[in-house]
Amino acid sequence: MPAPEARRGVFITFEGIDGSGKSTQARRLYEALAARGHSVDLTREPGGSEGAEQIRSLVLEGDPDRWSAETEILLFTAARRDHLEKRIWPALDAGRIVICDRFADSTRLYQGLRGPGLRQQVDRLHEMMIGTEPDITFVIDLDPATGLSRAKGRQTAEERFEDFGEGLQRQMRDGFLDLARAHPERFIVIDGARSPDAVAADVLDRASARLPRPVAG
Ligand code: ADP
Ligand code: TYD
Repeated sequence: MPAPEARRGVFITFEGIDGSGKSTQARRLYEALAARGHSVDLTREPGGSEGAEQIRSLVLEGDPDRWSAETEILLFTAARRDHLEKRIWPALDAGRIVICDRFADSTRLYQGLRGPGLRQQVDRLHEMMIGTEPDITFVIDLDPATGLSRAKGRQTAEERFEDFGEGLQRQMRDGFLDLARAHPERFIVIDGARSPDAVAADVLDRASARLPRPVAG
C-alpha cells in the first residue's frame, strides 16, 4: 500500500453519536464543495463499496448478540479495507476530496469501549490493515438525549446498534471529545445543537480554511 503522504487528495470524515447530524452535514459539505468546483466524493461507513455494503448488512442487522466484540472489530475493519481499496485510495490518488460519514474513530469507540483490551486490538488491526487517517475529522457534537430523539424518527432494519440508550451514547460523546483533544491537528469539534444551516455554514468555513483552491476546468 502506498504511504499516506503519496496520496494527493484530501480525506474528510464526520463522526459523532447517532442522530447528531453527521449524514446531513456530510451531504451539505459535499454539495457546497461540488458547487465551488471541487472534485469531491461522498461516501459512508460501514459500507461505501459493494463488498463493504454487504458486510454492513451482516453487522447492522439481526440479533444484538449475533457477533462478539472481536468479530465486530474484524468485520468493520474488513469492510473498511475493501472501501479503501475500491473507492477511497483511488479517489485520493486522483487528487479528489473524499468525504466519509463515519470512519475508524467509530471503531475505536463503538468496538474499542466494549470491554477491556479491545481498544488495543482495534489499534493493532488498524495499523496492520488500514494505516490511513483522515486529514480532517469533524465531530458533530450533540447532547445524547437530543441525538436519540432525532434518531428515533428513523425506522430501518439496521437496529443492532439502536438500543444503546443514553448512557452509552454519553460514553461515545465523551470518547469523541477525548479523541479530539488528543489529536487537535486532525479534529474540529462543531456544535451540532444549532439549525442545519448554521452547522453547515460553520463546517464549510472550517473546511475551506484547510482546502486547496478548486482546479479550474
Ligand atoms: P446522523 O447521521 O448523525 O445519525 P442525521 O444527519 O441522519 O444524523 O440526522 C438525524 C435526524 O435529525 C434526521 O431526521 C435529520 O433530518 C435531523 N437533523 C439533522 N440535523 C439537524 C439539526 N441541526 N437540527 C434538527 N434536526 C436535525
Ligand atoms: P450509521 O449508519 O452511521 O448510523 P447513524 O446514522 O445512526 O449514526 O452507523 C450505524 C451504526 O454502526 C452506528 O450505531 C455506529 C456503528 N458503527 C460501529 O459500531 N463501528 C464502526 O466502525 C462504524 C463505522 C459504525
